[in-house]
Amino acid sequence: MKILVIGSGGREHAIVRKLLESPKVEKLYCAPGNGGIACDAVCVHMQAMDIPGAVTFAKKNEIDLVFVAPDDPLAAGMVDALKEAGIPAFGPRANAAILESSKVFSKNLMKKYNIPTASYEVFDNSQTALEYIKQKNQYPIVVKADGLALGKGVIIAPSYEEAEQAVHSIMEDKVFGESGNQIVVEEYITGPEVSVLAFTDGKTLKPMVSSKDHKRALDNDQGLNTGGMGTVSPNPYYTEAVAEECMRTIFLPTIEAMQKEGRPFQGCLYFGLMLTKDGPKVIEYNARFGDPETQVVLPRLKTDLVDILMAVVAGRLDQLDIEWSDEPAACVVMASGGYPQAYEKGLEISGLDEYGQLEGVTIFHAGTKMRGIGKFVTNGGRVLGVTAMGSTLDEALQKAYDGVAKISFEGAHYRKDIGK
Ligand code: AMP
Ligand code: GLY
Repeated sequence: MKILVIGSGGREHAIVRKLLESPKVEKLYCAPGNGGIACDAVCVHMQAMDIPGAVTFAKKNEIDLVFVAPDDPLAAGMVDALKEAGIPAFGPRANAAILESSKVFSKNLMKKYNIPTASYEVFDNSQTALEYIKQKNQYPIVVKADGLALGKGVIIAPSYEEAEQAVHSIMEDKVFGESGNQIVVEEYITGPEVSVLAFTDGKTLKPMVSSKDHKRALDNDQGLNTGGMGTVSPNPYYTEAVAEECMRTIFLPTIEAMQKEGRPFQGCLYFGLMLTKDGPKVIEYNARFGDPETQVVLPRLKTDLVDILMAVVAGRLDQLDIEWSDEPAACVVMASGGYPQAYEKGLEISGLDEYGQLEGVTIFHAGTKMRGIGKFVTNGGRVLGVTAMGSTLDEALQKAYDGVAKISFEGAHYRKDIGK
């Protein structure tokens, strides 16, 4: 098969790596890819949001399957366009990707179908929102922009003043553009967070092994929120009993709800969960694989990924058994100095071999570029995901951190407490 992966981060590198293990893959393309992906697949000069470009490329190169990994092309209808052109595509259509691209939609869906989540109100007017917040008078309170906001659209306000600032910057200054036309004001809930990715063809849902993301930039969950600074799998809080409860109260009700709404969800559905004292609740849905969750989940997959993708696309996931390795995995993200704020690009990375790898670990490239043969430079906020498996989580973490110690670039920073 000829497969095209859309995207350019560490998640896409982990997908490319797993696809390469399949004997069914004859040719692998990635658009636009990155420095590390270029060692494993043919990188195509095409932006991830180029929908007509993806259709044209897939037709011209007789692509058998397109894997659309990032949120924005999914929300913009890339899968719809591919399917209409007769090209098999993995990922939800835009009318199902809305589960991630509109928090108002997802919150209202959960309310309608009794799926546990934090209580909330929706506002399209800042004045009414502020009156509500004042009247509620409970802090912290959570303010969320409705639409996609590069993972920055959630503000946890410890006081009225900060909530007011959040509402103003989202609804009036439009810091997230149209994504801020509506907001969700939400009750603050607490508990350990768990990420669960699941394959679904719209009718059948098969959860993958669980994982734990570390979203804050600095150790001990200090500093700004990021896309994710590291992950471990499995998530130690996600016991079998919790998994069973989530399946019954959250996962199956969600795909049934989407079916009833005439928006069957096909692809990877990501459940961002919080295990509260009142049971597991949904913090957010994503319509795609997580980054850097994928980097610890897919290495544990034993079943041929191509078989799973084809079963999802054909709507016959019920006929497939999916097997996972018992070995835990850990991923430590090495980020550019300054990330998640402004950072420099083009800094030379040392410690990697000519394929951008290192013995003893797997390096998933996130923001890198190849400069000359076997030379890599930084090209993004999150630069590398240094990943390892082990017979215990401690062993996996030890291997990953041993890898990190051998790699350097100017200003590099990483968390020292992943998995702790
Ligand atoms: P999201 O972008 O929706 O994943 O939110 C980012 C982070 O904000 C989550 O991982 C949580 O840690 C936190 N968060 C979101 N909603 C709530 C809530 N209702 N209560 C407490 N924390 C929240
Ligand atoms: N790591 C969180 C996400 O992919 O949304």
